[in-house]
Amino acid sequence: MRGFLFSLKSDKSNYYICKTFDKTMQYKRILLKLSGEALMGDRQYGIDPKRLKEYAQEIKEVVDRGIEVAIVIGGGNIFRGVAGASQGMDRVQGDHMGMLATCINGLALQSALEDTGVYTRLQTAIEIKEIAEPYIKRRAIRHLEKGRVVIFGAGTGNPYFTTDTAAVLRAIEINADAILKGTRVDGIYDVDPEKNKNAVKFETITFKDVIEKGLKVMDMTAFTLSEENNLPIIVFDMNTKGNLLKLVSGEQIGTIVDNE
Ligand code: GTP
Repeated sequence: MRGFLFSLKSDKSNYYICKTFDKTMQYKRILLKLSGEALMGDRQYGIDPKRLKEYAQEIKEVVDRGIEVAIVIGGGNIFRGVAGASQGMDRVQGDHMGMLATCINGLALQSALEDTGVYTRLQTAIEIKEIAEPYIKRRAIRHLEKGRVVIFGAGTGNPYFTTDTAAVLRAIEINADAILKGTRVDGIYDVDPEKNKNAVKFETITFKDVIEKGLKVMDMTAFTLSEENNLPIIVFDMNTKGNLLKLVSGEQIGTIVDNE
């Protein structure tokens, strides 16, 4: 019996405890979109272990409040070097490499989350089943209900689609309350805040206004998919400690894009 209990606790992937949902929270189920570049920290490419650990800690704080968290992560930190070295490469070939890059980041994030005591499952849109589970919508939802963080790798599994589109698609499929796009800027501005110090930040803005004003939030495929399915997008600064928890608690963090 002792041996059995020990084996349960020592297996980071299979043992889980459902945290009770903190009813003061604004969102019950979120999809967090992280860019691959964000994982670089101060590096030129690859993964900064310190940044990875910080992100895992931020995510743990919301999981501990009983919030169901799914994650889509980009691959730009790994793929960009390859892209530079292979100018003129076939687009489909390049996109396949990008999909593999998101799986590498997914594995790294999974490991970092499990080190902080968060239970996770990695599901991929292309089959690499010796490494990760295949994407199955119903199974992903079941994992979320059991308090596991589900990381979706390999984008949509199709070339010509970005990881932003993958994030919106998965968010709609799993019925997420919102998509939280973690970036290094703290929201959407009328002009580029890095170039113009008089830039004004929007607290909320409609999908229609974003298009009319020509602001850049996501690529059009991702953006219109979100608009058509009434899925709010919240753009916020993921690099400021505590922001993710504040956001899901209902504090005014970042910019909310919604239909009204
Ligand atoms: P529950 O049945 O809800 O407890 O979910 P579970 O994910 O624990 O069930 P399962 O027995 O299917 O999975 C056990 C472990 O195997 C988990 O760590 C899964 O991520 C992993 N796993 C399941 N299917 C696959 C797969 O196709 N490929 C890989 N690499 N791992 C898998």
